[in-house]
Amino acid sequence: MNILAEELNRTLSDSVAYGFLSPVGRRMYFPKGIVAQSDEAKEKARRYNATVGLATSHGEPFYLEDIYSAFREGEFKPSQIFSYAPGGGDRTLRALWRDSMIAKNPSLKGKRMSLPLVTGGLTHAISMAAMLFVSDGDEVVCPDLFWDNYDLIFSDLIGARAVAFPFYGEDGGFNVSGMKEALLSVKGDRARIILNFPNNPTGYTPSKDEMRRIVEALVSVADSGKKLLVLSDDAYFGLFFEDDTEKESLFAYLADAHDGIFAIKGDAATKEEMVWGFRVGFLTYASKGFTDAHLDALTKKTLGAIRCTVSNCDRPGQSLIVKAMQGGDHYRVDKERLFEEMRKRYLIVRSAVERHSGDKVLTPYSFNSGYFMAFSTNGHDAEELRTYLLDKYQIGAINIMGRTLRLAYCSVEPEGLDEVVDTVYRAAGELWN
Ligand SMILES: Cc1ncc(COP(=O)(O)O)c(C=O)c1O
Repeated sequence: MNILAEELNRTLSDSVAYGFLSPVGRRMYFPKGIVAQSDEAKEKARRYNATVGLATSHGEPFYLEDIYSAFREGEFKPSQIFSYAPGGGDRTLRALWRDSMIAKNPSLKGKRMSLPLVTGGLTHAISMAAMLFVSDGDEVVCPDLFWDNYDLIFSDLIGARAVAFPFYGEDGGFNVSGMKEALLSVKGDRARIILNFPNNPTGYTPSKDEMRRIVEALVSVADSGKKLLVLSDDAYFGLFFEDDTEKESLFAYLADAHDGIFAIKGDAATKEEMVWGFRVGFLTYASKGFTDAHLDALTKKTLGAIRCTVSNCDRPGQSLIVKAMQGGDHYRVDKERLFEEMRKRYLIVRSAVERHSGDKVLTPYSFNSGYFMAFSTNGHDAEELRTYLLDKYQIGAINIMGRTLRLAYCSVEPEGLDEVVDTVYRAAGELWN
């Protein structure tokens, strides 16, 4: 059990609530992970706050003009704002999301998949998939660099056991053979894996060739008789900054790859539509062998899971997204602007990191996409570097599991990025050289 959960249990042990805690209740705690570190940085990171996975400019979030301008009287009927959204989400939004998913992933064209179900953000989508398809004691394969909330969802909420493999292979790309080995090591005739590209915290998406090899490896595991559930977490989908980076979701290739592969796509308007606070995510299912009846049954089970957790999801957010996606004058232009801005920041960070290539105190992981880049601290304590940066230089960064320092360049102005990267190297040198 996590030490923080044990502390909370000790505190509660002489209270009436303690005896009522369920096994999940006993395992629950609030991690000192990304959220807690970001809160600390809000106070102390007076120069640069590179902690938060939210794209900002001059201290305010990026936004779609078509959504922001809709916040005025008479723009919506009361029913579009105040009524319950249908279970599973606004039908128009679900169809728009499916169509945009196909437009962004041409390989999905003509493939059978469920109509995306609306969830309360992507975290909720992943939790619903975990609740429906992972049991206490199951093993869940995941690369060793991952979004910290997976721990809470799969291990602490569900009681599953993580099977980790090194994210990067020896060539610095995605570790396809490590992934395959980890899947084959899972006991029994079923294995579950969650993959997140562009990745949080590394900012890495496989190249086109690596993606082809990932699909081949998964198919060969399925050929060996092990049934696979592959959950693609596409939180940062679309932010691909290099030519040879894969631009489609793994889900698009797995949707009809093998009867023994169950593909699940979790994605969200959160980052794709720049509406972090709206809480609108999606869950979509596909497999080569699925019939319409199978997809309908899975949809109904998921509706049940949503019904018993949040009942239904945010109505105003869904109406606003439909409006922007359907006919917003600025929709495409605003999205392209955000993409170009993130690409600009990425290129600055890439050059800044390249300038330090002779500096061995930190090792940057390969990155090419998304909101983040991260350094291996080469065995040194990343928490020491994080607090030193915060206290001495008022720069906020995130310590990931004590051995990785993550920079969210999405939330630092382009003019500050060189200084942030230089200071991270200087601080690491001051501590460890
Ligand atoms: C990898 C990853 N998956 C999922 C999420 C959750 O997204 P949402 O805010 O829609 O719940 C995040 C958010 O930071 C993330 O980084």
